[in-house]
Amino acid sequence: MTFPLRPFLATDTFALAELFREAVYDLASEHYDEDQRIAWMSTVNDEEALAERLQSQLTLVATDAGEPAAFISLKDNAHIDLIYVLPGFAREGAGTDLIEAIMKIAAARGAQTLTADVSDNAKPFFEAFDFVPEKRNMVMIDEEYLGNTTMRKALTDKSKAAMDAAREQAMRGKS
Ligand SMILES: CC(C)(COP(=O)(O)OP(=O)(O)OC[C@H]1O[C@@H](n2cnc3c(N)ncnc32)[C@H](O)[C@@H]1OP(=O)(O)O)[C@@H](O)C(=O)NCCC(=O)NCCS
Repeated sequence: MTFPLRPFLATDTFALAELFREAVYDLASEHYDEDQRIAWMSTVNDEEALAERLQSQLTLVATDAGEPAAFISLKDNAHIDLIYVLPGFAREGAGTDLIEAIMKIAAARGAQTLTADVSDNAKPFFEAFDFVPEKRNMVMIDEEYLGNTTMRKALTDKSKAAMDAAREQAMRGKS
């Protein structure tokens, strides 16, 4: 299935907040318990702040029959801040359509690499696009600790060579 993409509009905010909460509640349930997911969902409760966050970034919305099915946001042409898919559309390629578009736009605008702080449930998705783990993080939201992993993807051969060399050096340092 392919999903038409369009830029974010301020009027999408309510629907995207709902989409975010549904995605977290359903799709992250194998890796985060209910209290952790409720804390994570609360991060979009301030819809004015969410609208500002999405407007200040490059935000694309994937649609089905004109309605939002998924969205992605890119901060500073360098960091994927948010990518969320409605559970009913999971594994249908909406995430792929969004991340491929963002990688193309970022590369065209001169980005060498892209990073994301990746939740444990989303790791296989980012690995499918050759993002590699860099470091483990622990985030506290509403007194709940949530782990995630900073992952990085090389967008050019030169940056891939640099990332491979850095990884090799780190491995040598460990042995
Ligand atoms: C992560 C997420 C955005 C993936 O979106 P999606 O539209 O379902 O992903 P796609 O259908 O494009 O999947 C592309 C590939 O990624 C991998 N993948 C995606 N979800 C996966 C899963 N749950 N388990 C294993 N591999 C997965 C597969 O290789 C898949 O290809 P395939 O379906 O042909 O096997 C979606 O699951 C989501 O919204 N999760 C909850 C919110 C979240 O954690 N967001 C990320 C915050 S960092």
